[in-house]
Amino acid sequence: MSVQAARNLSLEEMDKQSFLHPYTPLADHLDTGPKIITSGKGVTITDSHGNDYIDAMAGLWCVNIGWGREEVVQAIADQARKIAYYHSFASMANEPAIRLADRLTRMAPGEMSKVFFGNSGSDANDTHVKMVWYYNNLRGLPAKKKIISRRRGYHGVTVAAASLTGIQMVHNAFDLPIAGVLHTETPHYYRFAEPGMSEQDYSNSLAQKLDHLIEAEGPETVAAFIAEPIMGAGGVILPPEGYFPAIQKVLKKHDVLMIADEVICGFGRTGKEFGCDQFDIEPDMITLAKGLTSGYIPMSASMISEKIWNVLVAGTPEVGAFAHGYTYSAHPVAAAAALANLDIMERENLTANSAKIGAYFQQKLRAAVADHALVGEVRGIALIAGVELVANKNTKEPLDLKLKAAPRLAALCVGEGLISRALMQVNAVSFSPPLVITEAEVDEVVARFGRALDTLTDQLVKEGSWKG
Ligand SMILES: Cc1ncc(COP(=O)(O)O)c(C=O)c1O
Repeated sequence: MSVQAARNLSLEEMDKQSFLHPYTPLADHLDTGPKIITSGKGVTITDSHGNDYIDAMAGLWCVNIGWGREEVVQAIADQARKIAYYHSFASMANEPAIRLADRLTRMAPGEMSKVFFGNSGSDANDTHVKMVWYYNNLRGLPAKKKIISRRRGYHGVTVAAASLTGIQMVHNAFDLPIAGVLHTETPHYYRFAEPGMSEQDYSNSLAQKLDHLIEAEGPETVAAFIAEPIMGAGGVILPPEGYFPAIQKVLKKHDVLMIADEVICGFGRTGKEFGCDQFDIEPDMITLAKGLTSGYIPMSASMISEKIWNVLVAGTPEVGAFAHGYTYSAHPVAAAAALANLDIMERENLTANSAKIGAYFQQKLRAAVADHALVGEVRGIALIAGVELVANKNTKEPLDLKLKAAPRLAALCVGEGLISRALMQVNAVSFSPPLVITEAEVDEVVARFGRALDTLTDQLVKEGSWKG
């Protein structure tokens, strides 16, 4: 027996002794231990005690085709058998990566010209940051480097991506953000628009604030703006009417690039192929991950427009090789998984299903909980939704975060056999189920969520921490 196998520990104990969990309160974990997931089929996952859950978050907003798709498993095995790994430095290539790059440039919105492959949404955004800097250096504009993101935006956790992320806990104690990253307003109409303001007026006011920010910093110092079409982790915040066209007018005026972070919205989540199509965004760069492989294997993509490519390629005589790349960039097994995933998406019309079942989901969710006294707003489109909890429905007064209402609600959902997600530092929970979800499964999600919400309400009333 090997040394490792001889350790007579339960998996739970082994986990606590050796596994540092991402986004987990570390001390609490030592008490509570892990929840071990052992299998998945369709929209359902099973834990090591045999409990089933409808995963209405598709993992972390990513398993768009659902679990247990043999076709992807087979594509992974076939590719691993042929050649499990090769790099793509110095012009090396592999067939699945070439085919995937071709497919993505044909699918993507805007005038995307080239695809750089990475392994996570975070590293893809770091790649974009570096490409923006590189691009402006090659254009002879070395001062034009700042990148504007939005408060509550989520772009990942690597050093540059975490800096772009506009969520305090991602910066706290990590000495972030880095210099040269600015944060502007969240386009959160429900919470921040002045009373009586139309959505379009609110969008115009945000565009004006962005204009002032760029003017104040000096347009010659501002290089790019990054945004998720719908903010996911920051609260499922949809852009108010006319938001992106108004913002892009300002960006164009100041020669500022638009980076669309499609890590959640890409591949059908909003009922269109890309969030850019849904919200009139004309990107210069696009970040893709998650739904690219439905999470079967990690892979991300940083796409750039012809305009950016032309500058990069013209720079070769000056800078030599494009000195950026990961060991696993364009991994052949990941690319094969992505191609099989996209085949399923296309054959099963999952983007159209997202729009159709999504409309049903939005209507059912609103009918069930929008009038609930604890619910301030139900928002979303297609198969992405958020429910914001409030202390007072009429005044929109937020619940005290110390009550931990959202994490408690998500935990109560787990008790009902439902995975939702408590969003960071906001009183909201989210839903982002696999795009293969059926009407009957949507009914279950909504019924289970309703029961969890009622239980939370009873608890808060009993504690005297909420009066309704
Ligand atoms: C919009 C967005 N961008 C980037 C990321 C970071 O991706 P990853 O966790 O793969 O690094 C995420 C992750 O949730 C995301 O939602």
